[in-house]
Amino acid sequence: MLKNKKILLGITGGIAAYKVIDLASKLTKTGAVVKTIMTSHASEFISPITLRAITHQTVSTKMFDPQSEIEHITLADWADIFVIAPATANILGKAANGIANDLLSTTILATTAPILFVPAMNVHMYENPVLRSNLVKLQKFGYFLMEPEIGKLACGYEGKGRYPRNEDIIDHIRTFLRYQKDLVGNSLLITAGANQENIDPMRFISNLSSGKMGLALAKAAAIRGAQVKLIYGKISETIPSYIVAEKKESAQEMHKAVITAVKNFKAIIMAAAVADFTPSQIAKKKIKKADNLTLNLQRTTDILAELGKNKKQKLIGFAAESDDLVQNAQKKLQEKNLDLIIANNLKNAGKSKTTIKIINKNLEILEYSGEKFAVAHKILDEVKKLL
Ligand SMILES: Cc1cc2nc3c(=O)[nH]c(=O)nc-3n(C[C@H](O)[C@H](O)[C@H](O)COP(=O)(O)O)c2cc1C
Repeated sequence: MLKNKKILLGITGGIAAYKVIDLASKLTKTGAVVKTIMTSHASEFISPITLRAITHQTVSTKMFDPQSEIEHITLADWADIFVIAPATANILGKAANGIANDLLSTTILATTAPILFVPAMNVHMYENPVLRSNLVKLQKFGYFLMEPEIGKLACGYEGKGRYPRNEDIIDHIRTFLRYQKDLVGNSLLITAGANQENIDPMRFISNLSSGKMGLALAKAAAIRGAQVKLIYGKISETIPSYIVAEKKESAQEMHKAVITAVKNFKAIIMAAAVADFTPSQIAKKKIKKADNLTLNLQRTTDILAELGKNKKQKLIGFAAESDDLVQNAQKKLQEKNLDLIIANNLKNAGKSKTTIKIINKNLEILEYSGEKFAVAHKILDEVKKLL
């Protein structure tokens, strides 16, 4: 997805500058070509030599360099996307107000490529009304902004302002290289992961779903501007703070949460591997070891079928089958009154890549393979047609 993409990385003088070395390395490993501009203050934190060695590309630090062409124009024209990470309060203020007094800020004004700012700073700086008004301005001008994470900050404070995970920045870059904020105004309720049905205080029944597909859908939709709520069970990845998420372990809890939330959304994507069975009784104490044990299981509520019966929203389901994948998925689509179904091979559970078939109401089939995040975008392209 990023191979041969031309990424211009702008680094400013924030304490998180050292984390951008890892970002540059990860981007370079994907096959992207990464050129860097650093402000003079960024060079107080990390050396241009490090970036040069990692990216094998130019690292520019000066506006007036007798050895270079008119660099702010050549770099501005070269980039497919321009990523400013970390973005200091200073560069955000300059960009919002058209100030161009060094190579980085001048290139921001000169480029027509999409620009993604990754703000990171002390919580009080982030909450400062001047900064907030600059962020609103930048958004109005069509710049893309990432939300900082909430947590412990380098300055010792706790709050919003932390540099996000590089993996999340890469998800944003991949999205903005292809999509604008094309899902703004849409709201999606997405479920993900496996349910956990308790047997006793120590033991439970679950399944092999990792939640990666549902989480990829939530991330991709949120980055494209949709209002997203994720209801999730067991999930093997970190949920970024830009996603509104609620953990619900059992099928019963998930059912209740979905039914409560559903009226606020235009579409529901049920990607969770909802437990079909749950123990009839949960033992209050740990069941003692014995030669054998019989568990009595009962059916859980079929959330998708219930949503299909009183349907007010667009409804998208998933089908994972051992045999006759397409036939079974088509049957499920019709029986549960769905608008789309994603047929998924069981073998892809837990993996980062997948092959899926998207089946619509006319029983037309689209097939996609690739990383779950890329496939999530393809699914959303089809969901968008329904909204
Ligand atoms: C140790 C240290 C850490 C800093 N960390 C940040 C930061 O995380 N975010 C920020 O906006 N400014 C931070 N600053 C302040 C900026 O370096 C300062 O505003 C500078 O003028 C930014 O210049 P630049 O945007 O041209 O790189 C820090 C300063 C120091 C001395």
